[in-house]
Amino acid sequence: MEDTLTTVVTGGNRGIGYAVASALVRRDCRVVLVTRDRERGERAAAALGGSVDLVTGDLSVLSEVRSVADELLRRCGSIDVLVHNAGVWPTRLVNTPDELERSFVVNHLAPFLLNRLLEGRLLESRTRVVHVSAGLYIKGRLDMDRTPVGADFHRMRTYCTTKLANLLMVPLFADRWRGTGVTVDAVHPGVIRTGLGDPGGVPGVLLKAMKRSWASPERGATPVVRLALESGGASGRYFDADRQAPLAPVAADQALAQRVWDQAETLTGLTGLNATEGRP
Ligand SMILES: NC(=O)c1ccc[n+]([C@@H]2O[C@H](COP(=O)([O-])OP(=O)(O)OC[C@H]3O[C@@H](n4cnc5c(N)ncnc54)[C@H](OP(=O)(O)O)[C@@H]3O)[C@@H](O)[C@H]2O)c1
Repeated sequence: MEDTLTTVVTGGNRGIGYAVASALVRRDCRVVLVTRDRERGERAAAALGGSVDLVTGDLSVLSEVRSVADELLRRCGSIDVLVHNAGVWPTRLVNTPDELERSFVVNHLAPFLLNRLLEGRLLESRTRVVHVSAGLYIKGRLDMDRTPVGADFHRMRTYCTTKLANLLMVPLFADRWRGTGVTVDAVHPGVIRTGLGDPGGVPGVLLKAMKRSWASPERGATPVVRLALESGGASGRYFDADRQAPLAPVAADQALAQRVWDQAETLTGLTGLNATEGRP
């Protein structure tokens, strides 16, 4: 690794992602924010100071995920840390131009596709990949046919299910990258006071009031940053904040994980490309 680490943080313009970016800037890392809105991204970059770059793209749209990957490859000769933080708690059913349920794409397919499209650079850089997970994965119930298109949409369960799908991929990426120097872990940041799942209107105001007692984004960022900067080759782990924890049976189902992986390859258009796609 070079002296200055290049770190990529998706959804780094607010909430936990911003706090992660801020901590990385304070540690003299170069931070590349991936945000969907240029103006919000520029405001965050200016507030962060330090060495901060911006890549914009809507991670709910697969073609934009591909553009983000292209831009990251163009702008980052190495990627030392990749933090998949962008996430959405859907308060209503929204289908994307790819005719997929939005949170299924942002929370699950986008990090999957980014890992695959960036794979060559990750292998060259021996990247530490960190997925910002959610302890609520435990309540996920994946329906392979209905969940991707939102046919089983539910304001709470869909969030849990999409985070479960994302988490199921972590051990498979860890296996795929074993012995290469690339590591991948997942971490539940805690129950954190951010705008996640804000429904707007009166319910939004009430939720905001309730969140006042929740932990700060900086607290949520702490275990993420610790993992991002950890040395050593451990990989495929799940952390509940600072504590490593075993996966609940629903996320340790290897047969299900493989089916979700295969489906993600199909839905993202990776199927049919050879096994070294994205590698140097
Ligand atoms: N807060 C908690 O208690 C908690 C608990 C467990 C896990 N998490 C996880 O922590 C991560 C960060 O959440 P947070 O609490 O910090 O939420 P947040 O304040 O709502 O921030 C979410 C971030 O994701 C970005 N994002 C959403 N949709 C996107 C899209 N289509 N394309 C690109 N970026 C998009 C947002 O960008 P915009 O500003 O443009 O919307 C924002 O930067 C998520 O993965 C979440 O699941 C949070």
